Amino acid sequence: MARSLVSVSDLGRDGLATIGGRTAQLLPAGAATQSLAGLQFAGLFLEASTRTRLAFESAARRLGAGFSLVDRGSSSIAKGESFRDTLDTLQATGFDAVIVRSPWSGLPLQLLAWSGLPIVNAGDGTREHPTQAIGDVILVAQHFKRELDAGNAFDGLTFAIVGDVKHSRVARSLAALIDRLGGSVRLVGPPAMLADPRAFGARVGATEELAPGIAGVDVVYMLRVQRERLAEGEWASFGSYQERYQLNRERLAAAGDIQLVMHPGPVNRGVELTDEIFADSRFAASRQVEMGAATRMAVLEWVMERL
Ligand code: NCD
Repeated sequence: MARSLVSVSDLGRDGLATIGGRTAQLLPAGAATQSLAGLQFAGLFLEASTRTRLAFESAARRLGAGFSLVDRGSSSIAKGESFRDTLDTLQATGFDAVIVRSPWSGLPLQLLAWSGLPIVNAGDGTREHPTQAIGDVILVAQHFKRELDAGNAFDGLTFAIVGDVKHSRVARSLAALIDRLGGSVRLVGPPAMLADPRAFGARVGATEELAPGIAGVDVVYMLRVQRERLAEGEWASFGSYQERYQLNRERLAAAGDIQLVMHPGPVNRGVELTDEIFADSRFAASRQVEMGAATRMAVLEWVMERL
């Protein structure tokens, strides 16, 4: 038997804590087991990716399983083969699950409706990026010494999610998990990059100004400006973006006692962050990547019901 992970809501009551506990065991770099020996994963990556693809690929191998990349340029998708026929081919070849990244919101759900194979969402359009959010939440829990199996594990923790919220699947999955754990979230960004906070969770608010948005929070989560999802010419209309929303040393210091500065990567250096933020010990992007690699191992075991 196996499960799918299309949305953070698929985790059920115990999924997050189970994956969190297993991730802690798998965290040491190079940790490897044979728990999924003999299984084969297909990585259907229809959009650019470095961290997520490498994390899933290394996760599969570190679990004793195989991983085959199916991308747009070198598969028959380039010849016009439909996603449905591609999926049928993956199933007939004998793959055990499909990990999918797509620029189109909802494609993982569509694949799930078409096939009997477990589907793992590696980021779909502006909709969800569950495995990024799971790894980030595990990192926060570890940093603040919170137990994910406790009800309201993030009680009293406050987060600001800053930047291109509207186009961010990471923000949607992350805010949903934080809200579920009892933390509170402020979405911060220019009006054209914000979204209705009520759609993100009960304890989610929004503000347009950076300084009050990040004042007094425990965690600042910076987002990449996703120029590939902006309409033609739209970026030019954000002429003063850096002036108003870029995080630098002074703004971080003025915000109070922030404990963690996070970013899912890739960073537009000099746009959402200055280089000096990279040098700050609170900047956790590399730790997020490290956690992300171990998290994908635990996620694959969870999906294959070996946890
Ligand atoms: C994110 C993504 O692709 O959604 N990156 C990632 O997976 N670490 C965020 C982004 O591209 O800005």
